[in-house]
Amino acid sequence: MAKHKIAWLPGDGIGIDVLNAAKIILDALGFDAEYVPGDVGWEFWCNEGNPLPDRTIEMMKTTHCCLFGAITSKPSEEAARELAPHLWPQGFVYFSPIVKIRQLFKLHTNMRPCKAFKGNPLNFRDDIDIVVFRENTEGLYSGVELHPVPREVMRFLADYQPKARRFIHESPDDLAISVRVYTRKACRSIVTQAFEYAKKHNRPNVTVVEKPNVLRETGGLLLSEARKTASQFPGIELWETNIDAMCMWLVKNPQIYSVLCAGNMFGDIISDLSAQLVGGLGFASSANIGDDYALFEPTHGSAPKYAGMNKVNPMAAILSAKLMLEYLKEDEKAQVLENAVGRVIAEGKVRTYDMGGGASTTDVAEEVARFCR
Ligand code: NAI
Ligand code: MG
Repeated sequence: MAKHKIAWLPGDGIGIDVLNAAKIILDALGFDAEYVPGDVGWEFWCNEGNPLPDRTIEMMKTTHCCLFGAITSKPSEEAARELAPHLWPQGFVYFSPIVKIRQLFKLHTNMRPCKAFKGNPLNFRDDIDIVVFRENTEGLYSGVELHPVPREVMRFLADYQPKARRFIHESPDDLAISVRVYTRKACRSIVTQAFEYAKKHNRPNVTVVEKPNVLRETGGLLLSEARKTASQFPGIELWETNIDAMCMWLVKNPQIYSVLCAGNMFGDIISDLSAQLVGGLGFASSANIGDDYALFEPTHGSAPKYAGMNKVNPMAAILSAKLMLEYLKEDEKAQVLENAVGRVIAEGKVRTYDMGGGASTTDVAEEVARFCR
């Protein structure tokens, strides 16, 4: 029996191309795993009315973690139109498989390394090495939203919070509310993980990105948990920065930051910004981590116009496989993989189109695999 059991979900479009590339590297490393392929994505929405069939979820439960490619998703109306006609009477509604997996498997932490590999022509600077920890299930993306807002909800709010009174005369249809929900547990968890990571990897500071001067209650809760946590990690500094200023500082001085930690929406923003500083979508890997399960994926989508062309940059998927190796405590293989990626980029001979080269997805994977061996 293989040492590790991996749910293998390439999904749609270039998700398939880049996971094929990642597999070349994992094989070159002699990674001892059984890969269990699973159905997910647009085809299964169109033909079954479910982009994440139950059989896939059951299969995932028998594995240690998942490597995920990308999926195609479309707005509700378009999704309804592409559903097979014999399924129309059954009232299926499209949902995002990746959001559902995060919820089902309680993948509360999103971790995204943004490291500049020397010689990457897409780098903003060569000395950036940032890791973003983003809370993955709460905050403004909790899904607690109302439109129209019933009058009794507004009256109730106004009773508790005088600042709500100025909206009370709006008609329900002219009001929309999205609630920012933070739990102490999730705040503590995300800052603890950020500090533990900093400690393990000898990083000097953790920057908590919030807006507590305006979002006093939610921002305040995250910050107070961060201060408590920081006191247990002597030697690692806690920096507190507002989201707006952070965007400015990341463009001005990204090299001074090390570990960033934020709630769901601000984490979303700073992780895309940080990723672009080190080459953008072709390099942006991510881990979705829970207490008992984890999923690793490049942050790009299915890029339909390049699907099956063996053309896109596989580095984001390859670096996601590296995060998987670390999660599975295969630290040595993870290090070999990262060194190989660094050498291929520094040599600059084999590059995909986004880096100004003419190499294919497989060419890049083979070159990384060569250095791994
Ligand atoms: P996308 O990330 O698929 O592609 C946008 C553009 O970025 C591409 O056209 C290409 O020019 C470039 N790009 C992306 N990945 C690249 C790579 N590995 N190498 C080189 N260039 C790359 O985003 P888009 O076009 O907005 O969405 C396409 C589909 O993907 C949509 O259906 C969307 O819903 C879905 N999507 C899925 C995600 C996921 O599976 N987690 C995340 C984002 C979008
Ligand atoms: Mg995003």
